[in-house]
Amino acid sequence: MNEIKKHVFVCVNERNERNPKGCCASKDSLKIMTQLKRTIKDKGIKDIRVNKSGCLGCCENGVSCVIYPEGTWYTIPNKEKSILEISESIINGEISKNYLMYSDK
Ligand code: FES
Repeated sequence: MNEIKKHVFVCVNERNERNPKGCCASKDSLKIMTQLKRTIKDKGIKDIRVNKSGCLGCCENGVSCVIYPEGTWYTIPNKEKSILEISESIINGEISKNYLMYSDK
């Protein structure tokens, strides 16, 4: 088994559509998570693991994603170009400033 150096968590939490908090699932987070995972896997990278997560507590900013050990938070739009850019930044150990959830980082 490979040593995992980085964990990428993407919220796929789903709530009733009448819940005022909203949810990442309603913004296609499962599709986004799958695409992110496939992009990284297709490059043969085995030490970065992409996982589904429950609510990460920042629903209004979703689709929410956090990467450890860095602790980088992203809002991932449902756009191929954005997902690709974020994937590349994760692989290269860089920060994709265009999609940072919190601008003070
Ligand atoms: S539902 Fe995704 S962060 Fe709460």
